[in-house]
Amino acid sequence: MLSPVLLTCLVAGLAGSQAAAACTRASLQEATAEYLAALSAGTTSFSSLSTTSKVHYQENDVELDISKGVLSAPVKIDFNFSIYDTTLCASYSEVVATTGHAYVIGTRLEFNSSDAKITKIESVVLDQGDWLFNVTGSLVYNQRETAAGGWAPIPADKRDSREVIKAAGDAYVNAWGDSSVKPPFATQCARLEGGFYITSNCLLNFPPPFNVTNKRYTIDEELGAIDIFHNFPFLDASLPRHPGTQTNNLIRVEGGKIRYIHENTVCQAKNCGR
Ligand SMILES: *[C@@H]1O[C@H](CO)[C@@H](O)[C@H](O)[C@H]1NC(C)=O
Ligand SMILES: *[C@@H]1O[C@H](CO)[C@@H](O)[C@H](O)[C@H]1NC(C)=O
Ligand SMILES: *[C@@H]1O[C@H](CO)[C@@H](O)[C@H](O)[C@H]1NC(C)=O
Ligand SMILES: *[C@@H]1O[C@H](CO)[C@@H](O)[C@H](O)[C@H]1NC(C)=O
Repeated sequence: MLSPVLLTCLVAGLAGSQAAAACTRASLQEATAEYLAALSAGTTSFSSLSTTSKVHYQENDVELDISKGVLSAPVKIDFNFSIYDTTLCASYSEVVATTGHAYVIGTRLEFNSSDAKITKIESVVLDQGDWLFNVTGSLVYNQRETAAGGWAPIPADKRDSREVIKAAGDAYVNAWGDSSVKPPFATQCARLEGGFYITSNCLLNFPPPFNVTNKRYTIDEELGAIDIFHNFPFLDASLPRHPGTQTNNLIRVEGGKIRYIHENTVCQAKNCGR
């Protein structure tokens, strides 16, 4: 027979493992699918989503009422791709919608690691006039890379560590303002910038001062992917240089090297006034 002390330990152990297990790949996938379904259907409340009582909602770095945002009307999703971070308890989804109001949407969901409920929803919402916006290109190149297996799971024995993936993503962004940083690019590195595909060179350097701030990460070792929401100084000529406009970079890393980059940047003025 179990002693009461042992029983208590067992119960505590169970509760502990349940808490740790709340943020699994499966739970993140399920909640992210719920979000994508809500985006497809349109919703003005959080009722179809499993959220904490107070969920923080923002678009393009502005806090918003959900009923005023992109979820409020149905979006016909032509393409979606998501990555899952079981360490930070977050997910990132990229969505392309070409019919009706054409959009490219990147959404980062953040979860409470104890109960796996959504605590924060933040999106970059791009449409006509945003940086190099071309929804046809976004769809075509996303589909092409995906069909070629470009974003398929990395075989377990070839996976990079979280640190390696993060270092590659950070180097890419940090090199923008510091030409002494040399990001590890694969020879075939390609960048989908807005809806345009650039294969000649992945390296970007900008004139100083150039200080990238407000980084929010999602890192998925299984998919070799890192997504960074952050500010882009300088690009939007209608804004002060710092902190700059909101951007998002989704990066695929293979064997420590950057293979694909997807950049989606919001503009205040048409094509960032450029
Ligand atoms: C997202 O894409 C997957 C295929 O990768 C598809 O099965 C699913 O239906 C899509 N979800 C939505 C909401 O369009
Ligand atoms: C996270 O979940 C735990 C367990 O349900 C709860 O006690 C806590 O208040 C939640 N935190 C937030 C920020 O909602
Ligand atoms: C948008 O992208 C498509 C696909 O690459 C291309 O055919 C089209 O010319 C582009 N549109 C513009 C206005 O550049
Ligand atoms: C960059 O911005 C951060 C956050 O505002 C600040 O702490 C840091 O000092 C800045 N660095 C430079 C080189 O300007």
